[in-house]
Amino acid sequence: MPGSPDRASLPLLLLGLPGLLPARPPGGDGRPHYEPTWGSLDTRPLPAWFDEAKFGVFIHWGVFSVPSFGSEWFWWYWQKEKRAPYVKFMEANYPPGFSYEDFGPLFTAEFFDPHQWADILKASGAKYVVLTSKHHEGFTLWESKYSWNWNAVDVGPKRDLVAELATSVRNRTDLHFGLYHSLFEWFNPLFLEDAANAFMTRKFPTSKSLPELYEIVTKYQPEIIWSDGNGNAPDTYWNSTGFLAWLYNDSPVRDTVVTNDRWGVGSICTHGGFYTCSDRYNPGHLLPHKWENCMTIDSKSWGYRRNAQLGDYLTIEDLVKQLVETVSCGGNLLMNIGPTHDGRITVVFEERLRQMGAWLKVNGEAIYGTKPWRAQNDTSTPGVWYTFSPKEGKVNAIFLDWPVSGTLVLGEPRAKLGETEVKLVGYEELLKWIALGEKGIIVALPQLTPKQFPCQWGWTLQLTAIS
Ligand SMILES: *[C@@H]1O[C@H](CO)[C@@H](O)[C@H](O)[C@H]1NC(C)=O
Ligand SMILES: *[C@@H]1O[C@H](CO)[C@@H](O)[C@H](O)[C@H]1NC(C)=O
Ligand SMILES: *[C@@H]1O[C@H](CO)[C@@H](O)[C@H](O)[C@H]1NC(C)=O
Repeated sequence: MPGSPDRASLPLLLLGLPGLLPARPPGGDGRPHYEPTWGSLDTRPLPAWFDEAKFGVFIHWGVFSVPSFGSEWFWWYWQKEKRAPYVKFMEANYPPGFSYEDFGPLFTAEFFDPHQWADILKASGAKYVVLTSKHHEGFTLWESKYSWNWNAVDVGPKRDLVAELATSVRNRTDLHFGLYHSLFEWFNPLFLEDAANAFMTRKFPTSKSLPELYEIVTKYQPEIIWSDGNGNAPDTYWNSTGFLAWLYNDSPVRDTVVTNDRWGVGSICTHGGFYTCSDRYNPGHLLPHKWENCMTIDSKSWGYRRNAQLGDYLTIEDLVKQLVETVSCGGNLLMNIGPTHDGRITVVFEERLRQMGAWLKVNGEAIYGTKPWRAQNDTSTPGVWYTFSPKEGKVNAIFLDWPVSGTLVLGEPRAKLGETEVKLVGYEELLKWIALGEKGIIVALPQLTPKQFPCQWGWTLQLTAIS
């Protein structure tokens, strides 16, 4: 990332309609058997936990965290595109002849405390985490047989970072553990050779990317495989459908694993598990297929950037807005942090994560396990987004601005006095409201002192039918 085409403008018809193909006949053990074709793989129902989870944390960590300048695309921008700021940065700060590989030993991770990371992740209210097991630079954060001398156990930390985080997350939290994996590698000679052969040879996927994928699944049993970086090669070059058929039929995570849609040219927003469509995808309307908005707290980079300004970081108000808009429209939010080369989640990232957790502690019932409602946002008042809690039969109206008038007009609900109750989540008393018939309702918000507000960055009204 970045680099995915912007699909926001595509008509919905092109987004792929789920459910058109019949489910596969069950295999001998009663479970569906998937063929290595998109037609078959795309019929697999997404394991339910993923839609219920709604919110995950993305972690971009690797050798790019050492220069921590510009973005995680540092190597490419410096040596391939030769962008001036990157070339100058190297000239000014490193001896002549210093190579990207020389950053490897400087990836030290001496402050990496996986227990602390797990505790911060838990405090964020996230229900899953996705770690970059390998980015386009090819450095694996786990001890890989297929990445000799370019992995975190041989070089740099001398620790299996994937194993350590997986263990801590599983021992200390109920978060699902997921792994990002880049198919291609910018400068891998085998990949470049295949590319020069117009991908008619397949040396790189058969000796590197596919063995790695099987290795991370069997070693760490991730419940998300977040694939990325097709290198302009088709899914047939990557044998993505062959891998996914194994993953869904035979792997140790076949019942719970979810995958995304980045499996080769043309698969994004069309094939695979949930759709990511483009980086920071947030369409603002309901989609007919499960999707995820992957975005960054540092608006300009996925990897840690020492040259970031405070204003580059999204505020908690921005982040709550992203979450609410995304969930209302049927998506999940995957919010990215970039740890430092020495293993710290900087306090700004930590603060944003803890703020999100504080907001979710109050408003989580309007987020986790919800479904999109008949309307996603309000017609009368901007900044009001709806979700539906199916078990309780509640409509949640999340409003991002507290109106100075003290009254909130909701144009969408059709409610009659005596049949519906209106509650502010985190506040005891029922609220007074007036029915406007076809025009919705007007709710009188309570007058609160600053300390009485249940939370600070968005509030939830719950509408319940009185039974
Ligand atoms: C995690 O839990 C497993 C199983 O209970 C235990 O063997 C292991 O030592 C624990 N690891 C850590 C780092 O706490
Ligand atoms: C693709 O993967 C499947 C499953 O591992 C394997 O059976 C098949 O031979 C592979 N195909 C190619 C062309 O590599
Ligand atoms: C609600 O969403 C629609 C579709 O994205 C948009 O056109 C409209 O402006 C939104 N309304 C408000 C009040 O945000």
